[in-house]
Amino acid sequence: MIEKIHHIGIAVRSLDEALKFYRDTLGLHVHAQDTVEDQGVRAALLTIGGSEIELLEPTRPDSAVGRFLERRGEGLHHICFQTPDVDGDLEALKAKGVQMVDQQSRRGLAGMICFLHPKETKGVLTELATPMEMYKGAHAGGAPS
Ligand code: CO
Repeated sequence: MIEKIHHIGIAVRSLDEALKFYRDTLGLHVHAQDTVEDQGVRAALLTIGGSEIELLEPTRPDSAVGRFLERRGEGLHHICFQTPDVDGDLEALKAKGVQMVDQQSRRGLAGMICFLHPKETKGVLTELATPMEMYKGAHAGGAPS
């Protein structure tokens, strides 16, 4: 199931400002950057050893990250665990009665992802992710179904 911490998500007002610190001052490498319009975020992933930092800037105030910034200000937004099988884990958690934000995995910057309800995780919004290269691997080469 869970293999490691894939990334830590940080909500920021300005991605460009945040990159000045995380990329330019700390010297972390940006390996992915994209706008995920359906989630209302501009995001960047920076490599930090075998894990990542995900910087999240809202593209509109009514997005989840926009509302978070309004309520709590900049700071730690979520933690993401890597799993080789996000769909299997999602079903297993639902079977155990765990409340989920997402009922199905969806495409995110880190791969195929889903969020658990923070009520379940003692107040920490928690994401599960299977990186696309692992996700494709898990669904390729088997018998057609
Ligand atoms: Co994330």
